[in-house]
Amino acid sequence: MDACGATAHTPRTTTSDVLVIGGGVIGLVTAWRAALRGLRVTVADPRPGGGAARVAAGMLAAVTELHHGEEALLDLNLASAGRYPAFAAELAEAAGDPAAGPALIGYRRCGTLAVALDADDRAELRELHLLQQRCGLAAEWLTGRECRRLEPMLAPGVRGGLRVDGDHQADPRLLTDALLRACERAGVAFHRSAARALTLDITGERATGARLEDGTPLTAGQVVLAAGSRSADLAGLPPDLPIPVRPVKGQILRLRMPPANGPGGPFLSRTVRAVVRGGQVYLVPRESGELVIGATSEELGWDTTVTAGGVYQLLRDAHELIPGLTELPLTETRAGLRPGTPDNAPLLGPSGLPGLQLATGHYRNGVLLAPVTGEALAESLTTGELPDWARPFRAQRFGAEVPA
Ligand code: GLY
Repeated sequence: MDACGATAHTPRTTTSDVLVIGGGVIGLVTAWRAALRGLRVTVADPRPGGGAARVAAGMLAAVTELHHGEEALLDLNLASAGRYPAFAAELAEAAGDPAAGPALIGYRRCGTLAVALDADDRAELRELHLLQQRCGLAAEWLTGRECRRLEPMLAPGVRGGLRVDGDHQADPRLLTDALLRACERAGVAFHRSAARALTLDITGERATGARLEDGTPLTAGQVVLAAGSRSADLAGLPPDLPIPVRPVKGQILRLRMPPANGPGGPFLSRTVRAVVRGGQVYLVPRESGELVIGATSEELGWDTTVTAGGVYQLLRDAHELIPGLTELPLTETRAGLRPGTPDNAPLLGPSGLPGLQLATGHYRNGVLLAPVTGEALAESLTTGELPDWARPFRAQRFGAEVPA
């Protein structure tokens, strides 16, 4: 086993029904679900379970991360959030630990509190509340005092907030570990090659697998491109195939909270978030005592440097919300790359090139959208068609010629 829990077994054959390029949350959930449908699946990734999932906070924030113009994405986000309890329980069983249940992946029904620190923040939060109400979502406006009653560590200056009891969390590291085990138990093979070291093979205008740098072919009936922010980078992609995925950098911090059963009670009992000076900051408290603080949003290409400025910005904004956090040990700083798309929604299903399917572009919602992505891709791989609810996310919206 490696550090991520994957057994380094190389496929006995390089021929499979499905080759998944990318072993992050999305690639793994696709591989697992496809294998459950009886397909022989290979995942190509140098470090399955690595990538953005090692960085992400894992908020399941369909309601608090709602934005104008993203109503179609909201439906998909809500559908996936609704599937999470059953998905987490099924995954625990598939990973060989049914007794752990949803806790195996850190699924925690903790709710979220979005707060405002000044008049501008409060006006923005009121706007969000109106949008949530128009979309029929449950969110309750609270005064500053009511917010502090829920979360006593909040700064006295908090002017009000939105209580959203339906936005929860999962731990992306535990999720990928469980997906790796489930894949392995379902017979998925792993090939440790980077997307950058692969070239897509196209034979007679159909994707037929990928080729390693040394020329070794990984032949497959179908290929799924699930390489996150690297998806558009795959060598051999036809230049006119629209895969508009770009990297959006996020820096994130991890701190350690005192034990929740200590004299002061829990440091935080739910996710707390705010817009501070126009930037998002969120604090996600785990059952384990880890406190995740995120995240910057930077359009800097492939850069994953953790910068003094990024760490400063996050700590400054988080400190304005929760002054007491400066006492906590800072245990980790990281940066990852979100796979952004022009409309912030994922690309699912047929790509426009026969034999090549897409499971990429999940931007801020990779962890949240794991259940529906696995389901949609398994359906598309076995029947050739996405379920109706996933069809708005076909590459067709960016000009790809996919079957109607
Ligand atoms: N969904 C949180 C983030 O992308 O930072």
